[in-house]
Amino acid sequence: MRGGQCVTPSGVVRADIGIRAQRIADIGDLAGAQAAEEIDARHLHVLPGVIDSQVHFREPGLEHKEDLHTGSAGAALGGVTAFFEMPNTKPSTETASDLADKVQRGREKSYVDFAFFIGASAANADRLGELEQEPGCSGVKIFMGSSTGSLLVDDPEVLARVLKNGRRRVSVHCEDEARLRERRSLVEGENVPVSAHAEWRDVDTAVIATKHLLRVARQTGRRVHVLHVTTAPEAELLADHKDIATMEVTPQHLTLSAPECYERLGSYAQMNPPIRGAEHQAALWRAIDRGVADVIGSDHAPHTQKEKARSYPQSPSGMPGVQTLVPLMLDHVNAGRLSLIRLVDLVCHGPGRLWGIPNKGRLAVGYDADLTLVDLAAERTITSDKMATRSGWTPFDGRKVTGWPVRTVVRGNTVMVDDSLIGEPGGAPVRFGEVGLSGETRSE
Ligand code: DOR
Repeated sequence: MRGGQCVTPSGVVRADIGIRAQRIADIGDLAGAQAAEEIDARHLHVLPGVIDSQVHFREPGLEHKEDLHTGSAGAALGGVTAFFEMPNTKPSTETASDLADKVQRGREKSYVDFAFFIGASAANADRLGELEQEPGCSGVKIFMGSSTGSLLVDDPEVLARVLKNGRRRVSVHCEDEARLRERRSLVEGENVPVSAHAEWRDVDTAVIATKHLLRVARQTGRRVHVLHVTTAPEAELLADHKDIATMEVTPQHLTLSAPECYERLGSYAQMNPPIRGAEHQAALWRAIDRGVADVIGSDHAPHTQKEKARSYPQSPSGMPGVQTLVPLMLDHVNAGRLSLIRLVDLVCHGPGRLWGIPNKGRLAVGYDADLTLVDLAAERTITSDKMATRSGWTPFDGRKVTGWPVRTVVRGNTVMVDDSLIGEPGGAPVRFGEVGLSGETRSE
């Protein structure tokens, strides 16, 4: 690869990258070197392959919304070289054979590399320590509040058992189930506006769950990763618990805000936890600025347009996002909201660090040659018809952005160039480092 602006752990440097046997073999001035294939990156920035650590690709069981082929096609088209997929499929991913089945499907159908979460439940709580070590497992996922699917850990005793069993970082959807039940009447009856979603699943619903989780994490010494954080108080809490908890934010919570999104998009803006007002969004940006946020994940959660068109609250929660994560965030870089280096930390170095991935997430010799090439100056419009998701829509339809992924390379193989997929699916499971005694992940 010739002459790109490479975003390395030590800064942005103009360099050539030599790739051998799927790995980065050299970074620097390789003027005399010969290569079977040469990629001209002179006008581009070269990022380590972007890792999307939260997607719902719906297979098995919900393939009318998405599957590993369409979902991973969206990933490749969006500059994402690896994804971690959530367990609320049908059946939900709760056993070693559920996991092995998904890994096999991934090998057959995915354009990019992958791993799958195991869903915590009362039934598997005592076996999670073994299950999280299965090949292709990105760890345990807990739903503290009901969302799409039936996975739920709302009993404090089960939550404690889940955190006690196993050592890897646990990813958690923090909404308090008891409060959701108590407040459900707010959205019952005829003609309830979608904006009521954020009142029902209010700030306290999220804060109560996050506080409870942090208490149990302290008691058990287990590290936790709070998914799609949406509120200012949670961002503050997490700033005070950096030693034990990490924080994800999503592009949609950073980009859309209430009440405008509900007026414009109706139930297409409905997700859990909800899109909130400007004050909370500002807190998420502050968390990015202050180094409190650790990763950005898309929470790609597609539902068909027919399902979304049901009247609220029958409409399901969730929106697609894997293909728009990089374009939206590059646009925010161009708008001066964050630096490209910070973005790379959130979508490449961060996932590598949090999940202890020994060979991905960095532009460094010996690492997998996973590369996301972006044209920071490209002006494009995001449109639903260009989305690979089977659901066929994006909440960002019609949005003009500056900055676009133009080539996606997975272990040396180009899988996307100029908005077209290249070749056949060749994804492989992501490998994770050995787990140390304190719950810290150690790279090989
Ligand atoms: O809005 C959401 N949709 N939040 C979740 O937690 C799950 C997701 C889905 O799977 O649809």
